Amino acid sequence: MKVLLTGSTGYIGRRLKHRLIQDENIDLRLLVRDKKSISSKIIEKVEVFEGDTFHKESLEKALKDVDIAFYLIHSLNRKDYKNLDKISAQNFLDMAISSGVKKVIYLGGLGVKNEHTSEHLLSRLETGEILSSSDKIQTIWIRAGVIIGSGSTSFEIIRNLTEKLPIMTTPKWVNTKAQPIAVDDVLSYLY
Ligand SMILES: NC(=O)c1ccc[n+]([C@@H]2O[C@H](COP(=O)([O-])OP(=O)(O)OC[C@H]3O[C@@H](n4cnc5c(N)ncnc54)[C@H](OP(=O)(O)O)[C@@H]3O)[C@@H](O)[C@H]2O)c1
Repeated sequence: MKVLLTGSTGYIGRRLKHRLIQDENIDLRLLVRDKKSISSKIIEKVEVFEGDTFHKESLEKALKDVDIAFYLIHSLNRKDYKNLDKISAQNFLDMAISSGVKKVIYLGGLGVKNEHTSEHLLSRLETGEILSSSDKIQTIWIRAGVIIGSGSTSFEIIRNLTEKLPIMTTPKWVNTKAQPIAVDDVLSYLY
């Protein structure tokens, strides 16, 4: 089975990559924006394609002959991320369909659309909606809230605050109910 992993330099993708490499039945291919970000040890074990979800030609090459494609991407560090994430997801869906990919697996945020939904979460929901919008391909959309694990941004913020401040005046949103999940459990759901 040929599997394409996107976001393999990211928090979740990096960990998933190590799991997928262990499986002898998987031919792993990575789509990265900069090949230099992948260690020579990993390059020996996988196929590495350089590309970007905003460049359809690079997606076309990376998705060729792929059975399952993981979408672990966001543009949150860019100003216009809401719009960019829509374009990125649509490009990925279109190229996955035209390349005959059987399944796309996406990990997004946990929550529903209402007047309290943050811009960030809305964007993650829109990405999931786009990736799930066609009956020509199967999309598995997994949603996670705060991921507990060393290196996870949301977890590190909580750790930093609680380790540095003996007492805290907290904003109202600390009363928001969250469903945290351990990073190992997220990985088990993904693969
Ligand atoms: N981390 C969490 O706590 C958490 C919680 C809930 C849900 N999630 C979901 O999990 C998914 C992955 O999140 P993460 O925390 O692992 O993200 P991350 O650490 O920020 O990594 C993002 C990855 O996406 C790649 N990327 C960004 N734009 C790209 C593009 N246009 N084309 C190709 N690659 C691109 C980056 O590659 P470069 O190395 O080139 O920048 C990087 O590998 C997201 O959908 C997120 O919503 C994460």
